[in-house]
This record gives sequence, structure tokens and C-alpha cells, in this order.
Amino acid sequence: MKVRKAVIPAAGLGTRMLPATKTVPKEMLPMVDKPVLQYIIEEAVAAGIEDILIVTNRAKSAMDDYFDYYPELEHRLEAAGKEKELEAVKQAADLANIFYVRQKETKGLGHAIWRSKRFVGDEPFAVLLGDDIMRSKTPVIGQIIAQAERYDSSAVGVQQVSDEVVSKYGVIKAEPLDERVFAVRDMQEKPALAEKFSNYAILGRYVLRPEIFDILENQAPGYGGEVQLTDGLKKLSVQGKMVAVDFEGKRYDTGNLKGFLEATIDFSLEHPETGEWLKEFLKEKAAAL
Ligand code: G1P
Repeated sequence: MKVRKAVIPAAGLGTRMLPATKTVPKEMLPMVDKPVLQYIIEEAVAAGIEDILIVTNRAKSAMDDYFDYYPELEHRLEAAGKEKELEAVKQAADLANIFYVRQKETKGLGHAIWRSKRFVGDEPFAVLLGDDIMRSKTPVIGQIIAQAERYDSSAVGVQQVSDEVVSKYGVIKAEPLDERVFAVRDMQEKPALAEKFSNYAILGRYVLRPEIFDILENQAPGYGGEVQLTDGLKKLSVQGKMVAVDFEGKRYDTGNLKGFLEATIDFSLEHPETGEWLKEFLKEKAAAL
């Protein structure tokens, strides 16, 4: 069955980026000239997704305002002949059909996904975590969707990470099925280094079949006292209903300061308005270090 819907959980408190994220949602921080969330929505749209649900909370209404029209600003830009800015402002509101639901209680990623049950209904859906920006030739979520459709299964996007960071992720136990595709046999959320199944970490992209909702509904809190999505997926994986895709592309974790700065520098170097200038600036800085 075709994947037509996506869910973006964006109801976290942004505690790794305080104090900046006290009143500005971390998903709305500017990545060069667009908010982080826009890159994630653009990836979903590029993969053919039409309907997107953002799981939000009471402190994050800046997200729904951003993907709406803003007539006063648009009239002002039009009158001033600022066509490029006008186009950019309107384009954000026209990207996709965007829906919102509030998580209401901060109970973890698994609980946030469970809140999308009414939106999703009875079909497979994509999940894109709100802090992970991907750079790739083919949209990363499109790579995961292709394998989920091929194997008629749930699927997660993975890449190998080092021992230093593996305990920050959901990790899979898997056997190869095809080039860059694995059958997942088991999963664990943020394992201790000595207990890790592998170095293949789940990096913020999933395609889930709707049976996940019944699992999440009854699931006890796990790591950190929160309802973990990985614990729900583990149940699907031990039943043989999960594949993993070692996706092509670079992932930036913009939910922590270093990842955010790395993405800012890389994207600014590629940006037509800042690229050349930043190259010179960095050379000068590096020479003075
Ligand atoms: C979440 C998931 C984890 C995944 C990670 C990166 O953790 O629970 O399984 O590996 O995102 O996408 P968080 O970074 O929110 O602690």
C-alpha cells in the first residue's frame, strides 16, 4: 500500500538547546534562512507525501503560524516590490496539507506517535523526527518508503555510528536481506556500550504500519521513564515485521549545539548568498587560530 501520510513529532521540550529554546521551538530555529522544520517538511514532500501531521504542544504555536498565510506581511512585501521575499513567505504556507495535534502531556516519542492514530487511520505512514535534517540525492524518507513498500513491512532508516555515540540511539539486531537492506530481529533503546546489538543506529526516519498504534496504546514507559517508540518497534521486529535501510545521505542532528552548528556551516557554504563569503571568512579564521 502506498505511503501518503507523514507524522512529524515536534512536542519535545528542547532541553539540549536551552536557553534558546525556552520560548522558540527548537524546530523553528533558523538553519541559514529557513526554520529547521521546513527542511523536514520539504524532504517529505519531495518523497511524494501529501498530508503531514505535526505533533505539537502548548508552547509551540509558532510552528502552525509559520505554515499559514500572513496577509498583512504579504501585502506589505507586495507593495514594496519585494517579490523574492513574498514568494518565499507564501511558499512555506503552500508546501503541503499540514495538520496539527497536541501531545498534551510530555510522555515520550512513542506517546507522541500514538497521538497521530486518528490522523493516520488504517494505512502505513512515514515518521520524520523534527530535529534530524538529511542531505541526500534521493530523499531519505523516500528510500525508506521504497523498501517498506517492497517488503510490505515497517521500516527504519539506519546508519553505522561509532562506539562513542551508539548509546545515544535506538539500535538494531539485523541480518542482511539485500544491498543496504536488513531484516530486523530485535531492537533496543539507548543500550549500554557492552550490551549493544550492533553499531547500526536508527536515525530519525521510519515507515510504520498501523498495528503500531495498538502496541503503543498499552505500552509501559521505558528508558528515561518515557513511552519509547523503539520499545514498540521491538515488538514488530521480533515478529519479523521490520526491515532496516542503510540509507544514502548525511544526517545532521540539529537538536544539539554541535550538530546545529555543523549543519549551519555546511548549509551556509552551499548557499548562493553566503557560500563564497563564508569560505573566505573561515580561511581567515583558520589562519589566525
Ligand atoms: C530518538 C529515538 C532513538 C533514535 C534517535 C535519533 O532519541 O528514541 O531511537 O535513535 O531519536 O533519531 P532522542 O534523540 O529523541 O533521544
